[in-house]
Amino acid sequence: MRNLAEIIGDLLYGPDGYYTKYVRIGKRGDFFTAPHASPLFGYTVGRFLERDGVKTLVEVGGGEGYLALDVLRATGITVLSYERSPKLREAQERLLGDYALEGRWRPVEEPVEADAYLLNEVLDAFPPRRYVFREGRWWEVVEREGEFGLVPSDGPRHYRGPVREGFTYDETEGLEDFLRVILRKTDRVLIFDYGYDEEEFPTIAPSGTLQGYREHRVLYDLEAVRPRTDITHFINFSHVERVAKEEGFGVALYMDQANFLLKAGMLDIFASLPDEDKERLAPGMKTLILLFRNHRVMYLKRRGG
Ligand SMILES: C[S@@+](CC[C@H](N)C(=O)[O-])C[C@H]1O[C@@H](n2cnc3c(N)ncnc32)[C@H](O)[C@@H]1O
Repeated sequence: MRNLAEIIGDLLYGPDGYYTKYVRIGKRGDFFTAPHASPLFGYTVGRFLERDGVKTLVEVGGGEGYLALDVLRATGITVLSYERSPKLREAQERLLGDYALEGRWRPVEEPVEADAYLLNEVLDAFPPRRYVFREGRWWEVVEREGEFGLVPSDGPRHYRGPVREGFTYDETEGLEDFLRVILRKTDRVLIFDYGYDEEEFPTIAPSGTLQGYREHRVLYDLEAVRPRTDITHFINFSHVERVAKEEGFGVALYMDQANFLLKAGMLDIFASLPDEDKERLAPGMKTLILLFRNHRVMYLKRRGG
């Protein structure tokens, strides 16, 4: 018998896992992320962090390395990349090698001390366990002899929100432990991801948030749990905030991604570009504002730090 996090963990990060062997991000890949939509994402995020005094930055789960590249191009920040996928580590080496020669970029094998940490669509790539509230109690989805079924359960460990009959909740396995590790290495953590506040889950996503991406087609629910697919879910920002507060952090900023980019000066950065760049980058900027509707940003800062 295996729970969903064990199955998804294997499908994503096992020896034949999606992130181990098959991942492809971008137009010709399975899904695309903000850094693949436009370099203006990285320029804006980089300048925001630099204005806040950041000189060294660890990017966690940087994928193919485009966000790191754009931060390096737009600022004087030194970037360290902590990446789990061997295939993506190689892609980062190829893209960022020139900055390594200048001493401004290097991969790291474990979370190290730095002024700030940056995570774009990383926590949603942790495998979730799935819980269902039915007949007045919690059950967990497990796989037995190749079939999904329910077994009685104490319910999600970290969910404190409302429950109602039929509610299905996907709980990010390992989020809390991982977050504590990085919060102890820095004073600032900037997180971009799709997710909700605790009380939003039963109304906005009563049937859970599992999704799979393959060649830009979306698979929902348990259909997403299959090989060679980017399997993802929405994270619980209230839980992130609780853990951060326990570690001595406060929430300096929490809003939707497009709003953040506009407030952080993306339009001014765009206006300062040469005309030929403007023409090239305008469609991507539009995509950043209009397409990533479910994405939010949370900026955690150590109190008194
Ligand atoms: C959805 S991809 C996003 C990639 C990139 N940040 C982007 O926006 O294009 C998720 C990334 O998180 C990485 N990842 C997942 N779990 C990780 C962990 N525990 N430590 C470091 N990286 C991790 C994956 O290997 C992958 O690079």
